Amino acid sequence: MKSSRHPPWIMICHWINAFSMLIMVGSGLKIYNASPIFGAKLPAFLTLGGWLGGAIQWHFAAMWLFVVNAMLYLGFNVLTGRLRARFMPLRFAEFTSDLFDLVRFRLSHANLDVYNALQKVAYLSVIVAATVMICSGLAVWKPVQFPVLRTIMGDFDNSRVVHFFAMLYLVLFTLAHLTMVVLVPRTLLNMLPIGFAQSARLSETKEGNQHEPK
Ligand code: HEM
Repeated sequence: MKSSRHPPWIMICHWINAFSMLIMVGSGLKIYNASPIFGAKLPAFLTLGGWLGGAIQWHFAAMWLFVVNAMLYLGFNVLTGRLRARFMPLRFAEFTSDLFDLVRFRLSHANLDVYNALQKVAYLSVIVAATVMICSGLAVWKPVQFPVLRTIMGDFDNSRVVHFFAMLYLVLFTLAHLTMVVLVPRTLLNMLPIGFAQSARLSETKEGNQHEPK
């Protein structure tokens, strides 16, 4: 039986990404609260780090994990040809028809080997948003060393606004992403090593049953 599970390096990159995002968002919100650019502070229970210095340390520690992991994910995807195979072709007509199916709760999940057009757009948009988040983060962290990035973002304060909205986009994506995982829990097995073990066992059992005398 052919398994739809993701390659191990995708699983590793995906879960490192989810872990580092959790730390970066929590510590980022604590840093935001120290000087709220939009006036209002966020509830303390959403934040991580205890105090500003602690939050900055968490943020930078997770940043290295996030950036190195993102580079490995993108690098492997390009070098192995998976990026093209999994995310291309991407047709507007497919996107609109999948969107139409989604709002009527008729989007098919029969074949987990291929992403539908909505998944392709959503996952590719995560790569774009993460790139914007890293670039705006660099502009906030080292505005003097990265004047080009700071200029592209507008100015220092605007870099913070861009950084915030890139984070917000990723958080909203994650909420929609988790909703889809709850609605189609089979996809989770393909992202877990335990899922592999289970489907391998299932497939063995099925094959075993086929050979059993009736
Ligand atoms: C506990 C939290 C999360 C769970 C349970 C989860 C679950 C999953 C699952 C099951 C898939 C495979 C979908 C499929 O095969 O159809 C997937 C793929 C993906 N997830 Fe998540 N995810 C989580 C957090 C995140 C976060 C925080 C991000 C980024 C902001 C993210 C980005 C992605 C991307 C980009 C893919 C596609 C990866 C690829 O195929 O290259 N996920 N996730």
